[in-house]
Amino acid sequence: MDRIQIRGGAKLQGVIPVSGAKNAALPLMIASLLTDQTLTLENLPRLADVSQLVRILGNHGVDYSVDGKRLGEEAMAGQTAHLRASAIVDTTAPYDLVSRMRASFWVVAPLLARMGEARVSLPGGCAIGTRPVDLLLMALEKLGAEIAIENGYVVARAPKGLCGGEIVFPKVTVGGTHVAMMAAALAHGSTLISNAAREPEVKDLADCLNKMGARIKGAGSSTIEIVGVARLDGARHRVLPDRIEAGTYATAVAMTGGDILLEGVQPDLFQEALDVLSQAGAHVSSDNRGVRVTRNGSGIAPVDISTAPFPGFPTDLQAQFMALMTRARGVSRITETIFENRFMHVQELARLGARIKLEGDTAIVEGVDRLAGAPVMATDLRASVSLVIAALAAEGETTVNRVYHLDRGFERLEHKLAACGADIERISG
Ligand code: EPZ
Repeated sequence: MDRIQIRGGAKLQGVIPVSGAKNAALPLMIASLLTDQTLTLENLPRLADVSQLVRILGNHGVDYSVDGKRLGEEAMAGQTAHLRASAIVDTTAPYDLVSRMRASFWVVAPLLARMGEARVSLPGGCAIGTRPVDLLLMALEKLGAEIAIENGYVVARAPKGLCGGEIVFPKVTVGGTHVAMMAAALAHGSTLISNAAREPEVKDLADCLNKMGARIKGAGSSTIEIVGVARLDGARHRVLPDRIEAGTYATAVAMTGGDILLEGVQPDLFQEALDVLSQAGAHVSSDNRGVRVTRNGSGIAPVDISTAPFPGFPTDLQAQFMALMTRARGVSRITETIFENRFMHVQELARLGARIKLEGDTAIVEGVDRLAGAPVMATDLRASVSLVIAALAAEGETTVNRVYHLDRGFERLEHKLAACGADIERISG
């Protein structure tokens, strides 16, 4: 199993190209099931989760191809992929595929909308919490689906097609909003989604669906209106930049000090995180090339945060921000409101010398003067990268084990950081 070795102490200096967003790419790829025409996605990141979803979609009949790199094209540039589901050959998404990646459960919506039936394994819990799918199923029921749970599978049927309806989410859910939009796009009649997730990835999916011929208004706000259409076409769409990847490297430079240009991303995608980093002592500016984050001289100031749905502080940056606060001059409080079990990085950060106390859904972080390298591992993607951030500022060597978590969501992390002066390398095997 690969490991990443880091010797801390170097300041980050340079340009980091921001990849396409994993959490936009996955639902966009799933949307290819809605049409028998080709969906072309530009700026698709090279990630383990993308490869896994290719396997899952292939099982349903999606042909997938990627354009070769053109001469002179940068190694970091995203890929252009073509997905075509000319025919759906299987409406079952089996346990061994779905259990490896929760987002693959979302195939239930396009399969049901296009084929009138879907049989998708229940995803089960994962490292960050129980993560039920009750709200996704509620949304499908509001659109007329009959849902049964049989032998660990959700069996959804709508033999006469789905019908528009009114969906009110009692809690903001990104996956629920994706599923509702995809299903309603091909339903008879109109659908109104209230308390929809406002995440940029939801808007990105709606933009792509509209290019495919869907009639979706209001995505990016909490009320989305969809007028169903009889069929969708192919389209060409560029995956939006990864605000979580950008926020991660922004936090890393706030930790090490230095000067980084996050190329290709705009601040409105992660404004709340940038505001928090400014309060912590980083300097943030932006121009048409991207967002620049610097920290020189000043120490790290403690800042309290509480995670919230967009436009609030993202749960997917909570672990990284906690790593930063381990070196703050004082005490900060970090409250996790989205997932009940997203503090697994606390024990591992402690191995590097961090002082963190958990009180229910809040971590109380007492900043320390120094962190010291150690072998560490983490059980999810964002927790793993928080250890990388801590290691970049720790004295001596840190080995981050179980790198496959990082590979799920960070494209060429070690290359991007090494190019900015970090002492980081991947040890294979
Ligand atoms: C998406 O997960 C992201 N995944 C997550 O990113 C992200 O942390 C999360 O949104 C919140 O921003 C992808 O986009 C692939 P939710 P999702 O439905 O859609 C509860 C990462 O590291 N809930 O918005 O699964 C749920 O338990 C990941 O990239 C129900 O109770 O999250 C949670 O508490 C991890 N019932 C809250 O809602 C449901 O039916 C929000 O979850 C659905 C969700």
